[in-house]
Amino acid sequence: MNLDTSPRLSVRGLAKHFTLHLRGGARLQVLEDTSLDIGAGECVALVGASGRGKSTLMKCLFGSYGADAGALRFESSAGPVDLATASPQRMIELRRRDIAYVSQFLRAVPRVPALDVVAQRLVDAEPVPAADDLDDAGHEERLEAARDAARALLARLNLPPALWDLPPATFSGGEQQRVNIARGFVQASRLLLLDEPTASLDAANRRVVVELIHEAKARGAAVVGIFHDEEVRDAVADRCVELG
Ligand SMILES: Nc1ncnc2c1ncn2[C@@H]1O[C@H](COP(=O)(O)OP(=O)(O)O)[C@@H](O)[C@H]1O
Ligand SMILES: [Mg+2]
Repeated sequence: MNLDTSPRLSVRGLAKHFTLHLRGGARLQVLEDTSLDIGAGECVALVGASGRGKSTLMKCLFGSYGADAGALRFESSAGPVDLATASPQRMIELRRRDIAYVSQFLRAVPRVPALDVVAQRLVDAEPVPAADDLDDAGHEERLEAARDAARALLARLNLPPALWDLPPATFSGGEQQRVNIARGFVQASRLLLLDEPTASLDAANRRVVVELIHEAKARGAAVVGIFHDEEVRDAVADRCVELG
């Protein structure tokens, strides 16, 4: 029997500093020898005062920031990979299929309707079909199935259907955040990075996000979260890891 007991994500000795050019090149050491493990189906909450490097750790995991030192071993759908040294091309693939990142802010492509901001994530995550399978009918079918999934999720998050066909640029903060959450959860990622996902949501929508996190854990996702709301944190986190 081949029982895989290695954690889904294993951070060892992560170090990260910033050089503050506006302050004469001063060095700000944000993370130093940070280590943590997260298993499949587990949610770890990062805690610590503002400025301790919680968001920085997430951005290192997502590949937005490079690490100075350390290993970020991730069990991807294609086998183990070190997120600290993965090539940019590999990171793009991992972001497509395996790693979702929900921040407080939506970075949507201009002019794309909310429904397709969400549906496209699902289409992009599918393996690219062979060139001779790439007929328009097949593509339309996949897009329609993805839109159905997107509609279901936007409805659960109480985004008014009148907004679904509009680009989110003019939406309120809470509406944009719900589009962002739907985009992060529409696809079954192996690693979910949630940076204050409920910051501008009302109580009813916070409860929906708690449900979505429970469902993601139940299907085996590893979740790293920063939750200011202690009620949300208590409802979803298996463990807390203190930074700083
Ligand atoms: N791109 C950056 N350039 C310079 N300093 C940064 C950058 N990103 C974050 N920092 C600094 O690193 C520290 C940690 O920030 P952050 O990870 O956002 O903290 P947290 O999420 O725990 O509140 C802060 O002092 C912040 O100002
Ligand atoms: Mg932060």
